[in-house]
Amino acid sequence: MSTTSLHVHPYEKRWIIFSIVLLIVFTAAVAIAAFALGIQVPSPEQRVDPRTVAVDPNSPWSNPGLREIAPGRYEAYILAQTWQFQPREIRVPVGSRVTFYVTSKDVQHTFKIQDTNINVQVVPGQVSKLTVTFKKPGTYPFICSEYCGVGHAGMFGQIIVTP
Ligand code: CUA
Repeated sequence: MSTTSLHVHPYEKRWIIFSIVLLIVFTAAVAIAAFALGIQVPSPEQRVDPRTVAVDPNSPWSNPGLREIAPGRYEAYILAQTWQFQPREIRVPVGSRVTFYVTSKDVQHTFKIQDTNINVQVVPGQVSKLTVTFKKPGTYPFICSEYCGVGHAGMFGQIIVTP
């Protein structure tokens, strides 16, 4: 037997191969989620002062709601607080691409829109930003999906996508 050969036990070799295959599978899963399924990872978009975010006239959340920035292109400023979202209802025509900017003025909430991939934590002092295109008309309820106190179950609203 040569003294320079590296002896790897067959059992160990199988585990090395298995680990490499796992890495490839996980990398593929992340790539599919990101590019094919369009999963968005929310990153801290902006910092705000939760004490003034709802009242400062320069803050878009002092007048929360929808802004049309181009034909079919919208920005929605959503203010979460115990225990409601402002606004409670948004109307857009079908095919609209809406970017949501959500923040909280008190405790931690979550903004989840049914039948979309939007489900983001809303942390006081931070702005969560996610974009969705509404391809089908209908009513898309949104809810707070994180327990935030006695009125948590009443924290909901809806997006109406008109034909
Ligand atoms: Cu807000 Cu639960």
